[in-house]
Amino acid sequence: MLVLQENISLKPYNTFGIDVKARFFAEIFTENDLAELRNHTVFSENKLLVLGGGSNVLFTENYEGLVLKISIPGIVTDVADNQVLVTAGAGVVWNDLVNYCVENGFAGMENLSLIPGTVGASPIQNIGAYGVELKDVFESCTAFEIATGNIRKFDFADCHFAYRDSIFKNELKGQYIITSVQFRLMTRIRINSQYGAIQALLAERRITHPTITDLSKIVSEIRVSKLPDPSTIGNAGSFFKNPIIESSKFETLKLAFPAIISYPAGEGKVKLAAGWLIEQCGFKGVTEGHTGTWKNQALVLVNHGGASGKEVYSFSEKIIDTVCSKFDVKLEREVNIL
Ligand code: FAD
Ligand code: EPU
Repeated sequence: MLVLQENISLKPYNTFGIDVKARFFAEIFTENDLAELRNHTVFSENKLLVLGGGSNVLFTENYEGLVLKISIPGIVTDVADNQVLVTAGAGVVWNDLVNYCVENGFAGMENLSLIPGTVGASPIQNIGAYGVELKDVFESCTAFEIATGNIRKFDFADCHFAYRDSIFKNELKGQYIITSVQFRLMTRIRINSQYGAIQALLAERRITHPTITDLSKIVSEIRVSKLPDPSTIGNAGSFFKNPIIESSKFETLKLAFPAIISYPAGEGKVKLAAGWLIEQCGFKGVTEGHTGTWKNQALVLVNHGGASGKEVYSFSEKIIDTVCSKFDVKLEREVNIL
């Protein structure tokens, strides 16, 4: 049964722990809930915000509309030959799905262990970590079209995945609510351990033939050592994207800053490590008012307690301006500002 709440605090629903209110709020457990809600005036007369785990949003003010918390459950698997298709409801906690797959010997997602949030949000910014992106295991997703109430299936090619990007952040922004995602995983294991930090830990532990369980554990350990736990320190992971610049510009920067960290990004482009740029500007581990950057990762902005979204946002402006003055590189926010 659909329950519509009014004027509720969103503090428990965003990992930054920002205390704002939603004018209306409903939790969605089935596609039918969405169809039912669509007939309600509160749906047609208000702006909509779709929320999963709230781990990639920064609220800067009360939300004067309807917040839909997507909690559609369920995991279904279909094993054939060396492959397995896993379909998960949009509300499944991402790391629960990863653990389920690792425990069942379904390979492909283990490098994405411990990323917060829900399955439904995973295609939105094509989540990625430790050499793997969502697009590497994505088969398709189903989504509810807000304007019509129709359910549409999106295949891989429809989604236009790129680094921290998809069609759902661009042409189709705000038009669909993802209700389930299907993944193509392997029962024959192929390990991806190219990432430097993973190789270092495998070598240290003398693990020569890692299993997907080893990979999942190692990735989780690296993450815990670098990133603050949102249950104790509010944050939304990397606040900015790693900037991608032209190779010609990179050559100039490299002359001025020989230690600059970079990765090839294809087609005459280079990706820079935003955390390094921010650290070089003196921002690593600083505290400003109630906000600041994390001591082990300058790319992560934190709420030390009682920060407002506006305070965090202003601090992020200061970082963007300082990095731009020093490196002539404009950082873009990864976190969705509301
Ligand atoms: P939310 O924050 O609730 O929403 C994010 C966006 O997706 C919003 O625009 C929202 O409207 C939209 N959305 C959510 N659900 C749906 C849906 N069902 N249908 C349509 N739109 C929807 N990200 C990475 O890529 N890699 C990382 O390594 C990583 N590490 C992190 C570490 C920490 C400590 C934290 C706090 C965050 C990290 N993130 C990382 C960011 C975040 O976990 C991901 O972006 C995640 O996919 C967000 O999921 P969510 O359910 O919390 O989405
Ligand atoms: N670095 C610094 N100083 C810092 C932070 C990083 O010099 O304060 C350097 C590191 O030493 C390293 C390089 O920058 O040489 C990259 O750092 P790291 O491996 O920690 O990764 P990242 O590029 O900062 C990205 C993602 C993370 C993801 C990790 C692991 C983005 C914006 N962030 O971070 O994703 O978990 O790689 O793959 O692409 C997120 O999106 O929220 C997120 C946490």
